[in-house]
Amino acid sequence: MQFPQALETVLQTLERLRDETGHRPCASRTVLDALEQIAPARVRENIPEPKIEPPSPDLRRTDGNKVEKLAAIQGRVAGCTKCPNLASSRTQTVFGVGNPDAEIMFVGEAPGADEDKQGEPFVGRAGQLLTKIIKAMGFPREEVYIANVLKCRPDTPGSSYGNRPPTPGEMQTCRPYLMEQIDIIKPKVLVALGAVAVEGLLGTRAPMRELRGRWDSFNGTPLMITYHPAYLLRNQSPSEKRKVWEDMMLVLERLEKPISEKQRNYFL
Ligand code: URA
Repeated sequence: MQFPQALETVLQTLERLRDETGHRPCASRTVLDALEQIAPARVRENIPEPKIEPPSPDLRRTDGNKVEKLAAIQGRVAGCTKCPNLASSRTQTVFGVGNPDAEIMFVGEAPGADEDKQGEPFVGRAGQLLTKIIKAMGFPREEVYIANVLKCRPDTPGSSYGNRPPTPGEMQTCRPYLMEQIDIIKPKVLVALGAVAVEGLLGTRAPMRELRGRWDSFNGTPLMITYHPAYLLRNQSPSEKRKVWEDMMLVLERLEKPISEKQRNYFL
Protein backbone atom coordinates (compact mmCIF):
# COMPACT_ATOMS: atom_id res chain seq x y z
CA MET A 1 0.00 0.00 0.00
CA GLN A 2 1.40 3.44 -0.90
CA PHE A 3 1.78 6.10 1.76
CA PRO A 4 -1.22 8.29 0.82
CA GLN A 5 -3.56 5.26 0.74
CA ALA A 6 -2.20 4.02 4.08
CA LEU A 7 -2.66 7.49 5.54
CA GLU A 8 -6.21 7.63 4.22
CA THR A 9 -7.00 4.28 5.88
CA VAL A 10 -5.51 5.49 9.18
CA LEU A 11 -7.51 8.73 9.02
CA GLN A 12 -10.75 6.89 8.25
CA THR A 13 -10.18 4.54 11.18
CA LEU A 14 -9.43 7.43 13.53
CA GLU A 15 -12.55 9.27 12.39
CA ARG A 16 -14.65 6.14 12.92
CA LEU A 17 -13.19 5.68 16.43
CA ARG A 18 -13.94 9.34 17.22
CA ASP A 19 -17.53 9.08 15.92
CA GLU A 20 -18.25 5.76 17.65
CA THR A 21 -16.70 6.52 21.04
CA GLY A 22 -17.29 10.29 21.19
CA HIS A 23 -13.59 10.71 22.17
CA ARG A 24 -10.73 12.01 20.08
CA PRO A 25 -8.23 9.17 19.63
CA CYS A 26 -4.77 9.93 21.04
CA ALA A 27 -1.49 8.85 19.48
CA SER A 28 1.66 8.28 21.49
CA ARG A 29 4.86 10.21 20.79
CA THR A 30 6.37 6.94 19.46
CA VAL A 31 3.55 6.59 16.89
CA LEU A 32 3.80 10.23 15.87
CA ASP A 33 7.58 9.86 15.46
CA ALA A 34 7.05 6.72 13.37
CA LEU A 35 4.59 8.58 11.12
CA GLU A 36 7.11 11.35 10.66
CA GLN A 37 9.68 8.74 9.63
CA ILE A 38 7.32 7.38 6.97
CA ALA A 39 6.58 10.82 5.52
CA PRO A 40 9.63 10.98 3.25
CA ALA A 41 8.16 8.02 1.29
CA ARG A 42 5.73 10.51 -0.19
CA VAL A 43 8.63 12.62 -1.31
CA ARG A 44 10.36 9.55 -2.84
CA GLU A 45 7.18 8.73 -4.75
CA ASN A 46 7.06 12.32 -5.97
CA ILE A 47 3.55 12.92 -4.64
CA PRO A 48 3.04 16.62 -3.86
CA GLU A 49 2.67 17.64 -0.26
CA PRO A 50 -1.05 17.96 0.52
CA LYS A 51 -1.73 21.63 1.04
CA ILE A 52 -4.45 22.14 3.60
CA GLU A 53 -5.31 25.79 3.96
CA PRO A 54 -5.91 27.11 7.46
CA PRO A 55 -9.56 27.99 7.97
CA SER A 56 -10.44 31.45 6.70
CA PRO A 57 -11.73 33.96 9.29
CA ASP A 58 -15.27 33.27 8.01
CA LEU A 59 -14.81 29.55 8.53
CA ARG A 60 -13.66 30.09 12.10
CA ARG A 61 -16.92 31.85 12.96
CA THR A 62 -19.02 28.91 11.93
CA ASP A 63 -20.18 25.73 13.66
CA GLY A 64 -16.90 24.04 14.65
CA ASN A 65 -18.31 20.66 13.88
CA LYS A 66 -18.81 21.48 10.20
CA VAL A 67 -15.32 22.97 9.96
CA GLU A 68 -13.77 19.85 11.47
CA LYS A 69 -15.79 17.52 9.28
CA LEU A 70 -14.88 19.43 6.13
CA ALA A 71 -11.22 19.55 7.15
CA ALA A 72 -11.26 15.77 7.65
CA ILE A 73 -12.61 15.20 4.13
CA GLN A 74 -10.16 17.77 2.75
CA GLY A 75 -7.34 15.76 4.30
CA ARG A 76 -8.58 12.56 2.67
CA VAL A 77 -8.99 14.32 -0.67
CA ALA A 78 -5.45 15.72 -0.44
CA GLY A 79 -4.04 12.20 -0.09
CA CYS A 80 -6.40 10.56 -2.60
CA THR A 81 -4.77 8.40 -5.29
CA LYS A 82 -7.90 6.63 -6.53
CA CYS A 83 -7.26 7.99 -10.04
CA PRO A 84 -3.47 7.41 -10.24
CA ASN A 85 -3.13 9.43 -13.46
CA LEU A 86 -4.76 12.49 -11.86
CA ALA A 87 -2.89 12.06 -8.57
CA SER A 88 0.43 12.08 -10.38
CA SER A 89 -0.35 14.97 -12.75
CA ARG A 90 -2.03 17.39 -10.32
CA THR A 91 -0.16 20.17 -8.52
CA GLN A 92 -2.62 19.79 -5.67
CA THR A 93 -6.22 18.84 -5.07
CA VAL A 94 -8.88 21.57 -5.18
CA PHE A 95 -11.35 20.85 -2.42
CA GLY A 96 -13.83 23.72 -2.23
CA VAL A 97 -14.07 27.16 -0.73
CA GLY A 98 -16.54 29.30 1.14
CA ASN A 99 -18.87 29.41 4.05
CA PRO A 100 -19.70 25.98 5.54
CA ASP A 101 -23.09 27.46 6.49
CA ALA A 102 -23.74 28.77 2.98
CA GLU A 103 -27.31 29.01 1.77
CA ILE A 104 -26.13 28.54 -1.81
CA MET A 105 -23.61 25.99 -3.03
CA PHE A 106 -22.31 26.23 -6.60
CA VAL A 107 -21.04 23.02 -8.20
CA GLY A 108 -18.75 23.13 -11.22
CA GLU A 109 -16.96 20.57 -13.29
CA ALA A 110 -13.28 20.23 -12.37
CA PRO A 111 -10.29 22.45 -11.65
CA GLY A 112 -8.56 24.01 -14.63
CA ALA A 113 -4.91 25.05 -14.83
CA ASP A 114 -5.38 28.19 -12.65
CA GLU A 115 -7.30 26.29 -9.99
CA ASP A 116 -4.72 23.47 -9.98
CA LYS A 117 -2.01 26.07 -9.40
CA GLN A 118 -3.85 28.05 -6.70
CA GLY A 119 -5.73 25.23 -4.96
CA GLU A 120 -9.05 27.10 -5.11
CA PRO A 121 -12.02 26.47 -7.39
CA PHE A 122 -13.13 29.05 -9.95
CA VAL A 123 -10.23 31.50 -9.83
CA GLY A 124 -9.50 31.64 -13.58
CA ARG A 125 -11.46 33.59 -16.20
CA ALA A 126 -14.63 31.51 -15.74
CA GLY A 127 -14.20 31.93 -12.00
CA GLN A 128 -13.99 35.69 -12.29
CA LEU A 129 -17.29 35.67 -14.17
CA LEU A 130 -18.82 33.41 -11.52
CA THR A 131 -17.63 35.80 -8.80
CA LYS A 132 -19.26 38.68 -10.72
CA ILE A 133 -22.54 36.73 -10.87
CA ILE A 134 -22.39 35.95 -7.14
CA LYS A 135 -21.75 39.62 -6.31
CA ALA A 136 -24.58 40.76 -8.59
CA MET A 137 -26.83 38.42 -6.61
CA GLY A 138 -25.87 40.41 -3.51
CA PHE A 139 -23.40 38.01 -1.86
CA PRO A 140 -19.69 38.33 -1.18
CA ARG A 141 -17.93 35.31 -2.73
CA GLU A 142 -16.96 34.10 0.78
CA GLU A 143 -20.61 33.80 1.79
CA VAL A 144 -21.50 31.04 -0.69
CA TYR A 145 -19.76 27.67 -1.08
CA ILE A 146 -18.06 26.67 -4.32
CA ALA A 147 -16.90 23.16 -5.22
CA ASN A 148 -16.43 20.91 -8.21
CA VAL A 149 -17.47 17.38 -9.07
CA LEU A 150 -13.79 16.49 -9.55
CA LYS A 151 -11.17 17.55 -7.04
CA CYS A 152 -8.23 17.06 -9.42
CA ARG A 153 -7.48 18.75 -12.70
CA PRO A 154 -8.17 16.26 -15.52
CA ASP A 155 -4.78 15.38 -16.97
CA THR A 156 -3.87 16.12 -20.56
CA PRO A 157 -1.15 13.55 -21.33
CA GLY A 158 1.39 14.73 -23.85
CA SER A 159 0.36 18.35 -23.50
CA SER A 160 1.16 20.84 -20.78
CA TYR A 161 -1.86 23.02 -21.58
CA GLY A 162 -5.53 22.64 -22.49
CA ASN A 163 -8.42 21.07 -20.65
CA ARG A 164 -10.46 17.94 -21.05
CA PRO A 165 -13.81 17.01 -19.49
CA PRO A 166 -13.77 14.46 -16.67
CA THR A 167 -14.55 10.88 -17.68
CA PRO A 168 -17.66 9.17 -16.25
CA GLY A 169 -15.32 6.87 -14.27
CA GLU A 170 -13.44 9.80 -12.73
CA MET A 171 -16.73 11.46 -11.78
CA GLN A 172 -18.02 8.28 -10.21
CA THR A 173 -14.82 7.87 -8.21
CA CYS A 174 -14.76 11.45 -6.94
CA ARG A 175 -18.52 11.90 -6.41
CA PRO A 176 -18.58 10.60 -2.79
CA TYR A 177 -16.39 13.54 -1.70
CA LEU A 178 -18.91 16.01 -3.16
CA MET A 179 -21.78 14.10 -1.55
CA GLU A 180 -20.07 14.43 1.82
CA GLN A 181 -19.49 18.15 1.30
CA ILE A 182 -23.17 18.73 0.45
CA ASP A 183 -24.25 16.59 3.37
CA ILE A 184 -22.21 18.68 5.81
CA ILE A 185 -22.94 22.13 4.36
CA LYS A 186 -26.63 21.43 3.82
CA PRO A 187 -27.19 24.42 1.51
CA LYS A 188 -30.75 25.62 0.96
CA VAL A 189 -30.11 25.67 -2.78
CA LEU A 190 -27.62 23.93 -5.07
CA VAL A 191 -26.63 25.44 -8.40
CA ALA A 192 -25.18 23.08 -11.02
CA LEU A 193 -22.95 24.92 -13.48
CA GLY A 194 -23.13 23.15 -16.81
CA ALA A 195 -23.86 19.68 -18.11
CA VAL A 196 -20.90 17.96 -16.45
CA ALA A 197 -21.98 19.19 -13.02
CA VAL A 198 -25.49 17.90 -13.75
CA GLU A 199 -24.06 14.53 -14.77
CA GLY A 200 -21.91 14.42 -11.63
CA LEU A 201 -24.85 15.24 -9.38
CA LEU A 202 -27.81 13.54 -11.04
CA GLY A 203 -26.10 11.01 -13.28
CA THR A 204 -28.15 12.23 -16.25
CA ARG A 205 -27.07 13.72 -19.56
CA ALA A 206 -29.24 16.03 -21.58
CA PRO A 207 -28.76 19.19 -23.64
CA MET A 208 -28.35 22.22 -21.40
CA ARG A 209 -31.07 24.14 -23.23
CA GLU A 210 -33.51 21.49 -21.95
CA LEU A 211 -32.11 21.37 -18.41
CA ARG A 212 -31.47 24.97 -17.44
CA GLY A 213 -33.84 27.37 -15.77
CA ARG A 214 -35.93 24.70 -14.04
CA TRP A 215 -35.94 23.45 -10.49
CA ASP A 216 -34.68 19.96 -10.03
CA SER A 217 -33.92 18.23 -6.76
CA PHE A 218 -30.82 16.58 -5.40
CA ASN A 219 -31.52 14.31 -2.43
CA GLY A 220 -34.26 16.72 -1.35
CA THR A 221 -32.23 19.93 -1.88
CA PRO A 222 -33.61 22.26 -4.59
CA LEU A 223 -31.22 22.23 -7.53
CA MET A 224 -31.06 25.00 -10.14
CA ILE A 225 -29.27 24.11 -13.36
CA THR A 226 -27.66 26.85 -15.38
CA TYR A 227 -24.96 27.34 -17.98
CA HIS A 228 -21.30 27.08 -16.98
CA PRO A 229 -19.61 30.52 -16.94
CA ALA A 230 -17.03 29.17 -19.42
CA TYR A 231 -19.91 28.71 -21.89
CA LEU A 232 -20.78 32.39 -21.48
CA LEU A 233 -17.15 33.33 -22.15
CA ARG A 234 -17.24 31.31 -25.38
CA ASN A 235 -20.68 32.54 -26.35
CA GLN A 236 -20.88 36.26 -25.63
CA SER A 237 -24.50 36.54 -26.79
CA PRO A 238 -26.44 38.84 -24.40
CA SER A 239 -29.45 36.51 -24.54
CA GLU A 240 -27.44 33.55 -23.16
CA LYS A 241 -26.01 35.71 -20.37
CA ARG A 242 -29.47 36.98 -19.55
CA LYS A 243 -30.69 33.36 -19.22
CA VAL A 244 -28.09 32.69 -16.52
CA TRP A 245 -29.10 35.85 -14.72
CA GLU A 246 -32.78 34.84 -14.87
CA ASP A 247 -31.82 31.45 -13.38
CA MET A 248 -30.02 33.27 -10.57
CA MET A 249 -33.09 35.42 -9.91
CA LEU A 250 -35.08 32.20 -9.49
CA VAL A 251 -32.50 31.20 -6.88
CA LEU A 252 -32.90 34.54 -5.06
CA GLU A 253 -36.69 34.17 -5.13
CA ARG A 254 -36.42 30.65 -3.73
CA LEU A 255 -34.29 32.01 -0.88
CA GLU A 256 -36.85 34.79 -0.36
CA LYS A 257 -34.19 37.44 -0.93
CA PRO A 258 -35.45 40.84 -2.07
CA ILE A 259 -34.62 41.59 -5.72
CA SER A 260 -34.12 45.27 -6.53
CA GLU A 261 -35.28 46.93 -9.73
CA LYS A 262 -31.64 47.34 -10.67
CA GLN A 263 -31.08 43.60 -10.25
CA ARG A 264 -34.20 42.76 -12.31
CA ASN A 265 -32.88 44.85 -15.21
CA TYR A 266 -29.32 43.56 -14.85
CA PHE A 267 -27.38 42.03 -17.73
CA LEU A 268 -24.18 40.10 -17.02
N1 URA B 1 -14.34 25.33 -14.26
C1 URA B 1 -14.89 24.53 -13.32
O1 URA B 1 -15.84 23.82 -13.59
N2 URA B 1 -14.38 24.56 -12.11
C2 URA B 1 -13.37 25.34 -11.76
O2 URA B 1 -12.97 25.31 -10.60
C3 URA B 1 -12.82 26.18 -12.74
C4 URA B 1 -13.31 26.16 -13.99
